[in-house]
Amino acid sequence: MPAIASVSARQVLDCLGRPILEVDVVTDTGHRGRGAAPTGQSVGMHEAVVLRDGDPEHYGGRGVHRAAENVTRVIGPALVGRDVAEQRAIDTVMLELDGSERKARLGGNALYSTSIACLRAAAAAAGRPVYEHLARGPLTTLPVPTFNIVNGGRSGRLVQAFNEFILVPSGATTVAEAVEIGVVVFERLAAVIERWTDAPAGVAPSYGYRAPSSDPRVVLELMREAADECGMADLVTFALDCASSEMYDPVDDTYELDGRRVRRDELIETTRDLVDDFGLLFVEDLLDENDWDGFVEAKRTLGATLVLGDDLVVTDVARLERAVALDAVDGFLLKPNQVGTITEALDTFDLASRHGLVTVPSGRSGGVVDDIVMDLSLGLQVPFQKNGAPRSGERIEKLNFLLRAADAVPSARLADLGALRRSRAALR
Ligand code: PGA
Ligand code: ZN
Repeated sequence: MPAIASVSARQVLDCLGRPILEVDVVTDTGHRGRGAAPTGQSVGMHEAVVLRDGDPEHYGGRGVHRAAENVTRVIGPALVGRDVAEQRAIDTVMLELDGSERKARLGGNALYSTSIACLRAAAAAAGRPVYEHLARGPLTTLPVPTFNIVNGGRSGRLVQAFNEFILVPSGATTVAEAVEIGVVVFERLAAVIERWTDAPAGVAPSYGYRAPSSDPRVVLELMREAADECGMADLVTFALDCASSEMYDPVDDTYELDGRRVRRDELIETTRDLVDDFGLLFVEDLLDENDWDGFVEAKRTLGATLVLGDDLVVTDVARLERAVALDAVDGFLLKPNQVGTITEALDTFDLASRHGLVTVPSGRSGGVVDDIVMDLSLGLQVPFQKNGAPRSGERIEKLNFLLRAADAVPSARLADLGALRRSRAALR
């Protein structure tokens, strides 16, 4: 049995230049694993706490040296000597050491980075890629990569309430084709936006184009135009991540929408029209992260379009259980750092699978180059997963990873999203 011999930690940077924690685990057999926690920009209030130093002298208080110390002084000594393949036992030790509800004591970043480092070391010791290590059987399908190509939010005076406009290469039959569709349409969209606004297409903080309009319909139309001009209209579908917690005002119970404050019902109605006109594959976080009734209503209203919970579920098994009991979602976003350990994240995946829900692994906007998202997407055999725009090293690397995996597992086929949609429609 390869036992954990050492656990070390340091502060490095995420791909937005913000401090993050990186952990290295080495086994007594000389196998190594590294883990680093990405961070988001639309971070749910129920996510595991990212422990930061709060020292304004360094990185505006965002340093993570305290979390690093928790790894080397508290977590490491408790893990040394343990079987690195016993992931559940490792994660349980860390959860017990922390003892708080949202990993506030040792830091969700400390637990997550260590958890991933152990997973990688275990896969290395077993002599196989992480996705094979995670797989529960032979790999038969490859996930369709989707691309967040237009980013909303506040940009000067323009407010686009919906956070992400996503391109889905739903008609692709291979990974290579899906990647090419994503890249080509993304490139073309710059020209389409420029023509429409008479100004260069701006780059948003998540590396997509800045939404050129406060009206979500306009953005989707421009995306459709770009796909059309590429001769790829039949090969793509679109999807939305509204990230509505960012735009919800609990004081008067309203949401932002195209320059107005609207009630939940109007938000759902407007989205239903978009779903009807654009055949959206999924709508993520249409409502605030605590608006359970709103999700139930949305799921009832949006037909075959998948209603997904991200900030609602935060990869947490108890929150997904509640969503299942209420029939509030068709699936959830799998971002293991939201919950803290890989074991908890996989438990949430298992619950989703038992209930026929879709799991959508997703990178985060504050990404890391060697994110675990593609390993999860491949290993767990999900139909599709979510990326940023095809721009910047850490985002392109995920696509390259998928291209290499497609080569390594030639018998696996790209997941059929048409079949997924038909099967959801049949359930309604
Ligand atoms: P992130 O969010 O910036 O928090 O990673 C993207 C999302 O809401 O899916
Ligand atoms: Zn989201």
